[in-house]
Amino acid sequence: MKEINLRVKVPSSGVFTYPVIFGKNHWQKHLRAFLEKKTFSKVGFLVDEKVFAAWNKEIESFGSSDILLIPSGESSKNINKVIEITGTLTSKGYDRKSLLVAIGGGVVGDLCGFIASIYMRGIPYVQIPTTVLSIVDSSLGGKTGVDTPYGKNLVGSFHFPSLVIADTLFLQTLPEEQRKNGFVEMVKHALIIDGTYYERLMRPFSEEEWPSLLLRSCEIKARIVQKDPKEQNLRQILNFGHTLGHALEHAAGYSLLHGFAVAWGIIGEAFLSMKKKLLSEDELQRLIRDFQHKGLLVSPEIISKLSWEDVRLPLLHDKKNQRHTVYVVLIDKIGRVKPFQGRYSHPFDEVSLKEAFNFLQNIAEDRHERH
Ligand SMILES: NC(=O)c1ccc[n+]([C@@H]2O[C@H](COP(=O)([O-])OP(=O)(O)OC[C@H]3O[C@@H](n4cnc5c(N)ncnc54)[C@H](O)[C@@H]3O)[C@@H](O)[C@H]2O)c1
Ligand SMILES: [Zn+2]
Repeated sequence: MKEINLRVKVPSSGVFTYPVIFGKNHWQKHLRAFLEKKTFSKVGFLVDEKVFAAWNKEIESFGSSDILLIPSGESSKNINKVIEITGTLTSKGYDRKSLLVAIGGGVVGDLCGFIASIYMRGIPYVQIPTTVLSIVDSSLGGKTGVDTPYGKNLVGSFHFPSLVIADTLFLQTLPEEQRKNGFVEMVKHALIIDGTYYERLMRPFSEEEWPSLLLRSCEIKARIVQKDPKEQNLRQILNFGHTLGHALEHAAGYSLLHGFAVAWGIIGEAFLSMKKKLLSEDELQRLIRDFQHKGLLVSPEIISKLSWEDVRLPLLHDKKNQRHTVYVVLIDKIGRVKPFQGRYSHPFDEVSLKEAFNFLQNIAEDRHERH
């Protein structure tokens, strides 16, 4: 068991400190201890239905009468669900002294966090992430939100949980594809900050090594969030691979899992890093080889079918852009981001972005033909 204490100072809102407790088969013990320490008028569990199917005995042993099952998948992260659940909470008498507990991946975590942030103007919540992605990414950092018909995460808030319990026990039932999906975010953490960690991730590793690798990613993300809780500057580096990645994900109609779109995005943004003479050609080629070897460049047929027009529009409309210039985080070596004029992203015009997209399509076509 290892505990990281996240101390987040938000300008004008104060300082938030909360523990992220990391281990295996320890969540029940820590949740019980937390509930005993404080008095809550009611405790409601929001649980992903697939997680509940696999772990219902453990969850029910908690004896809460309020287990609200959330249908699996991104479509549960919407405003109607928020209205439905807040209605249920009101009818059950939840008040400002009540607690919500999220057990599931990023979908349940984001939804529960958002509900907790607005119900009675804010109630506490605990996150128990059950996917790789939610352990290393969405449960850390206090971003909550839901999707609207206009796009992903367009309605949301910052609301820090009171406690995060990352229990690798849940990963036993997580499908391999979902593991890999979250693994890409771990690789991203390594590429922006820690070259040695990147080497560890790329070497073959056993099941027993997963927890310490996950922990390293949590430390990296926690350190960055701690320094920049409201995404004003440093936190931008977490967007490495995501400018192109989001555009590809959107253009492909979300038929690619987020992590896999980001894997292609990382290669595209590494290409842009190389074009700016930051990353060496050798390191770019090494990344491509490693990603192929680890099976991260999946669904090349989807990438090769996209047209530049499909990708261009979401790219230019990325909410992180300013005045139609597209900003991209670049690395100058494996494990280090290169800042530019006091910020962590570099401006790009359409011509260079299209070149990066063509580069990805060449890799995709090459892979597609070989299969
Ligand atoms: N708040 C943030 O900072 C942040 C950061 C990154 C991503 N996100 C959000 O996170 C979401 C994606 O999260 P995700 O990848 O965890 O997806 P998810 O929550 O949809 O879970 C993926 C799938 O795995 C299933 N599942 C979850 N845990 C399981 C387990 N232990 N065993 C078996 N099946 C299990 C789920 O039912 C689902 O089908 C997106 O909505 C994204 O916007 C938020
Ligand atoms: Zn991501």
